[in-house]
Amino acid sequence: MNRFNKPVDRLGTSSIKWDLQKERIGKEGLLPFWVADSDYQTADPIINALIKRIKHGIFGYTIIDNEYREIVKQWFTRRYHYNIENEWIVTTPGVVTALYYAVEFFTSPKASIIIQTPVYNPFYDVITSNKRIVAQNKLISVKNTYKIDFNNLEKLLIDGAEMLIMCNPHNPVGRVWKYEEVAKVVDLCKRYNCLIVSDEIHCDLIYKNVEFTSFGQFFDDYERIIVCTAPSKTFNLAGLITSNIIIKDEALRKTFKEGFASRSLREPNLLGIEACKAAYTECDQWLEEQIVHLSKNAKLVYKYFKENIPLAKIAKLEGTYLMWIDMRFLGLCSQELVNGLVDYGILVNSGAVYGQDYDGFIRLNIACPKKQLEEGLAIIGKFVSDQNK
Ligand SMILES: Cc1ncc(COP(=O)(O)O)c(C=O)c1O
Repeated sequence: MNRFNKPVDRLGTSSIKWDLQKERIGKEGLLPFWVADSDYQTADPIINALIKRIKHGIFGYTIIDNEYREIVKQWFTRRYHYNIENEWIVTTPGVVTALYYAVEFFTSPKASIIIQTPVYNPFYDVITSNKRIVAQNKLISVKNTYKIDFNNLEKLLIDGAEMLIMCNPHNPVGRVWKYEEVAKVVDLCKRYNCLIVSDEIHCDLIYKNVEFTSFGQFFDDYERIIVCTAPSKTFNLAGLITSNIIIKDEALRKTFKEGFASRSLREPNLLGIEACKAAYTECDQWLEEQIVHLSKNAKLVYKYFKENIPLAKIAKLEGTYLMWIDMRFLGLCSQELVNGLVDYGILVNSGAVYGQDYDGFIRLNIACPKKQLEEGLAIIGKFVSDQNK
């Protein structure tokens, strides 16, 4: 059995996805397809690097050394064909933390900040908890995919939005923005002097015949770009809280670094650093195999829905392991869908949390063994067929 299909018991490991169900949902023992981490083990070189480091037995304060920076730099040069300098890398405890402080450090009180909805719900939180204003640029739904509304984007920029937070690839709709789309966003933001913060945490999870374009490829065209990356989704390391934020512009970087230091967010997580080094040097093969596994899982979902729930609409998955499913034909709101599925034994995300027009949608995390996904799909099928009785 390949490692992606090998079930691993996560109960009792302080896992949000598995162990927090009772507290958050009021019921336990549910098969989880919600929180965005994976239900299979990470790559062996990462596990071995961590074991080696743990055996050393000293877990003192740690620095970001040049070897680490060089490894991160090489990863982006090798895989995404853009060059960065070692000093552009700022390591932070998570991408959401970086987004939160980017909003605080780089925008004025009550500034408008653009997000393209539906989108990963903490994007709203990092804006509102900083007392800034959410300026929504709703994605346009076209057949089974989504497009950027460039006209409205320009309107929001003309109205003075100070920052655009991009999600690339886009959680939850699964888009990987094309080169032309990224170039057009950069062009518009440059015209209106709007800072681009691109969350590229899912950038390694790209499917066949799709090409990822990083906003980092445009560093030479526009200096006001920040790119947020991490090995956490790619290699199932979210609990190690280690992300790399790439900031070319010296003044932006200085403000960002000094801001973090002034909040006492200084040293990195030692194990996160070790894991990232191993991930970015020894795990390309594991990543390719994971993408094959995820592609098979995605196909399984498309097939199951086509044969059993043909009225649902699944957005074309170009990147991420999160599938976006329009279940509005049932006439239920997202919360009713989530509650109904909980009663049948599985846990999915409510689509409504990603955007106000998405009640009746769900998000399904497919980063799990095939058998777990098959069980989940059968439960969704039973739930849907029972609605018509
Ligand atoms: C787009 C996006 N950004 C950020 C995160 C979380 O990042 P972190 O755990 O590094 O804060 C997620 C997790 O699902 C995500 O989907």
